[in-house]
Order: sequence, then structure tokens, then C-alpha cells
Amino acid sequence: MPLADSLRRPLRDLRISVTDRCNFRCRYCMPREHFDADHEFLAREDILTYEEITKIASTLMPLGLAKLRITGGEPLMRKDIVKLVRMLRDLNGDVDLAMTTNGVLLKRHAASLKDAGLDRVTVSLDALDTDLFQSMGDTHHSPEEVMAGVDAALEVGLQVKVNMVVQRNVNESQVVPIAAFCFERNIIPRFIEFMDVGSTNQWELDSVVSGEDIRSLLAQTYGEVNTVSPDHPSDVAKRWKTEQGHMFGLIQSVTAPFCGDCSRARISANGSMYTCLFANEGHDLRAMLRFGANATDIEAAIRTIWTARKDRYSEGRKEHKEPKPKIEMSFIGG
Ligand code: GTP
Ligand code: 5AD
Ligand code: SF4
Ligand code: SF4
Repeated sequence: MPLADSLRRPLRDLRISVTDRCNFRCRYCMPREHFDADHEFLAREDILTYEEITKIASTLMPLGLAKLRITGGEPLMRKDIVKLVRMLRDLNGDVDLAMTTNGVLLKRHAASLKDAGLDRVTVSLDALDTDLFQSMGDTHHSPEEVMAGVDAALEVGLQVKVNMVVQRNVNESQVVPIAAFCFERNIIPRFIEFMDVGSTNQWELDSVVSGEDIRSLLAQTYGEVNTVSPDHPSDVAKRWKTEQGHMFGLIQSVTAPFCGDCSRARISANGSMYTCLFANEGHDLRAMLRFGANATDIEAAIRTIWTARKDRYSEGRKEHKEPKPKIEMSFIGG
């Protein structure tokens, strides 16, 4: 039977983080001064196995799950990730199966991911300019590697979207180049307002470029833009179309929060379920699994967690005083 939380929101979308590690150190996500050699990443035995992940996903399917997204950290850094894709696909042939990645390892893996049953990849790309790309990601990798990943994914028939986080006085100059890169390939760029996730990224309101401002930037180059109705009410991006028919999305978590329709649950790599991206605490499913819980036990636990859910962090952002540090995005998965 489908499940609804205390605000009548279904559980439609599960985002599974498979690792808290990443080969980038994006300033807004994993600043190197916090995620350095002294940072304690999860130990291998603390991370859910593919069998454990699949077991959780399988208990959620009958509750109305329609989308599964594999995230990280950087999910392509986890060994044999293609195996997990195949296991999730084997569970259900119809579920929308996607992955969020920084794209550097995508060229190498695109064909096997597609072959294993992945439907879509969402590639993070914040700049085409090499210096800016490398300073934002605090990395020696190049934007060309990511672009090659996008092209490889398209070639093998994966659906592709591009995510760009836009920060004031950092990468506004890249909005139009990234739009052009996507429009040429007929893929959708989504521009994300910089969010106050986690506790280490020195977020401040002044560094947010609003979706409205991004839309004006695009309209200056592409002319009039018009709204496109969403595929589903729980979609995070508001979609727009240029006069030439190119589509783009704005993810306005700060200026136009979308908690009212939020149907997303998250599982961290160590097996805790979080009912909000901005949660302070998760619910430990791994302990249950490792103490021998069966599918019925897990389902009952998830029902209890989801039924009690009342999160709407972004809608109440201004009122929050943080009692405890929020979970980092690289841990909980974007
Ligand atoms: P589609 O299935 O393609 O619509 O993907 P998606 O938009 O659900 O997933 P994606 O990982 O591409 O999400 C894009 C970005 O939106 C994330 O990286 C986050 O920055 C933000 N985002 C996604 N879900 C939430 C959410 O529940 N709350 C908030 N505040 N932001 C979110
Ligand atoms: N604000 C907005 N988006 C973020 N992401 C990571 N941290 C933040 C943040 N503070 C994005 C990444 C990627 C996705 C997983 O989340 O750029 O596209
Ligand atoms: Fe890695 Fe993505 Fe975080 Fe950048 S935003 S550090 S690529 S997980
Ligand atoms: Fe959902 Fe929390 Fe994001 Fe609101 S802030 S949309 S409740 S994850």
C-alpha cells in the first residue's frame, strides 16, 4: 500500500549514497580544510553492501517507489558500481534508475552502466573555463574530461542532464557557456541555487544567485523564455524553454522552496535513512539489517519513519536555529 507522511507526501524517490568519498573537493561541498588527510571517511565494513542496499530498495518498491538515484560522494569511485546498477534493475524493470556523478570517470563506465540497466545520469559541471573549474572543484581534473563523459553517456544512449551550482562572484560567467554546451547536445542544464547544506561550506545568503537572476542572464542571450509545466509535482527543477525550444531548469531551494511536494528519502552510505537533505539525524537501518531483520521488519520500520515525517526545512529556513550540525551533502548524497 502506498505510504504518506504527516503532510500527506508519498515516498516516491529514494536517493542512495554509495560512498562518502570523492575525487573532487568542491569548495561548496567538501572544502579541503575539513576533508583532508585527517578526515575520517567511513570504513569499508561500515558501508552497506550491494546486497543490503538492494534489500532496502526491494522493501520500498511495494510502497510506491518510482525513482532510484545512486549518489555519493562520487558513486563511480565505488568498486564494481555497475554490479549494483544491475541488481537494482533486476529488482524492477520499470523503476526510473539514475545516477548523479561529477563525470570524470563517466567516459570509462558509460557503456557498462547503460548495459546494466541505468536510465539516466546527471552530471555536475560548474564551469567550462579550466581555471574556474579547477578552483571550484579544488581538483587537477579538467572540464574536458567531464565533457567527454557527457558525450560518452549520450553516445551509449543514456539520458543526460547537467547540474550547475551558481555562486555569486564565482561562476555566474559560466551560466551561458554551460547552457550553450547543453543546448548543442539537446540536453537540459539545471541551475542550482547555492544551498546551506552541511556545516562547512561557509554559506551566506549574499553568495546565492537567485533563479530569477539566472533566468534573466539566459534571457539576455536567448530572448524570451517561457515556463514548461512539470512532469511531476515532486520535481525539484522548474522548467523553462527558450524561443528556440531549448529547455533548462532552475532549482530554487533558497528563493522558492519546494518542500510541499517533497517525496525524497535518502540513505547514507552507512545505511541511515534521512527524511530531509537538511536533517541532523538519520534512522539506522544497517543495525537492523545486520541483526537479521527480514523484509517485513524493514518495511515496518520505514513505514514508521515515513509516517512521522514532517520535514520542511527550506520553507522554514529563516526561522531555524541549529541545535546540532547538519549532515554534509557528500555524506547524505545530493
Ligand atoms: P530528476 O529525477 O532528474 O528530476 O533529478 P533530481 O532533480 O531529483 O535530482 P538531482 O540529483 O539532479 O537534484 C538536483 C539538485 O537539486 C541536487 O543536487 C540538490 O542540490 C537539489 N535537491 C534535490 N533534491 C532536493 C531536496 O529534496 N531538497 C533540496 N533542498 N534540494 C534538493
Ligand atoms: N548547494 C547546492 N548544490 C550543491 N551540490 C553540492 N553541494 C551543494 C550546495 N551547497 C550539488 C552538486 C551536485 C549535486 C550532487 O549537489 O553540485 O550537482
Ligand atoms: Fe564531490 Fe559532487 Fe561534492 Fe563536488 S559536489 S565534492 S563532485 S560530491
Ligand atoms: Fe525535502 Fe527537506 Fe529539501 Fe524540503 S528541504 S525539499 S523537505 S529534502
